[in-house]
Amino acid sequence: MTRSILITGASRGIGRAVALHFAKQGSDLHLLGRDEAALAAIAEEAAAAGGKAHLHPASVTDRVALRAAAGCIPHLDAIVAAAGISGVTPVDADGDEVDEAFDAILQTDLTGCWNTVRAFAPRLGTGGRIVLVSSVLGRFGVPGYGAYCAAKHGLLGLTKALALELIPKGIYVNAVAPGWVDTDMAQVGIRAMAQGMDISEAEARHQAESVVPVQRFFRPEEIAHGIAWLLDPANTMQVGQCLNLDGGVVQV
Ligand SMILES: NC(=O)c1ccc[n+]([C@@H]2O[C@H](COP(=O)([O-])OP(=O)(O)OC[C@H]3O[C@@H](n4cnc5c(N)ncnc54)[C@H](OP(=O)(O)O)[C@@H]3O)[C@@H](O)[C@H]2O)c1
Repeated sequence: MTRSILITGASRGIGRAVALHFAKQGSDLHLLGRDEAALAAIAEEAAAAGGKAHLHPASVTDRVALRAAAGCIPHLDAIVAAAGISGVTPVDADGDEVDEAFDAILQTDLTGCWNTVRAFAPRLGTGGRIVLVSSVLGRFGVPGYGAYCAAKHGLLGLTKALALELIPKGIYVNAVAPGWVDTDMAQVGIRAMAQGMDISEAEARHQAESVVPVQRFFRPEEIAHGIAWLLDPANTMQVGQCLNLDGGVVQV
């Protein structure tokens, strides 16, 4: 049976990999992100892989746009909330820029997921699935990443509450917590790490990989595989769980 799946942050990285994973299964894909041209390119890739894509150019911070997009979708089987931004927010930084960055990260990564669920969960029926993309930084703190850690920890709280709220309707809510994944976001993170430590980006990457028990970054397709496991209709045991997809950085 063709499944209908909404993916936020579908234009790049993990969201794109999720879209292409389900395209190969012939799914009906609803791709949401701010960059319409990038979404259109993913739609072409998805069509070539066997899926059918619908574009929803919108920001997850725009509740009106999300409600309008939801109005165009008759039914969903799953929602994957992968849209996110990162960035350093040192608490002792001068000026207003860091406060603006803090607000933007919380509004996108935490409130954006709330907005997404609010707008699109009414399109899910019994057996529906929601996966929120948190992070290992939803599991532990990292200096300088207060906003991102707060948002990603907050997402796990949201996952727990929504899971209990929606399971009576037969809707399964879970989260994933990826470690380092080779995407634009990780590249920006490595660059910031290199600048902060006054080392090369290659050395920063080597240091980042060396603290991962399996000693490497992950491909977005590997994260899509983990998310697909949570979306599998046969998987009816996971409720309010967080699946670590990090190569052993966080145990249990
Ligand atoms: N990469 C990692 O190492 C890593 C690790 C743990 C968790 N994560 C999480 O995984 C998710 C995906 O990250 P990624 O690595 O794939 O990052 P990425 O390559 O930078 O992609 C981010 C995606 O989010 C979308 N996005 C950003 N702001 C948005 C907004 N306001 N409204 C709608 N879409 C928005 C972007 O599309 P537009 O710019 O076109 O809107 C893009 O599609 C994020 O939640 C991130 O925090 C990533």
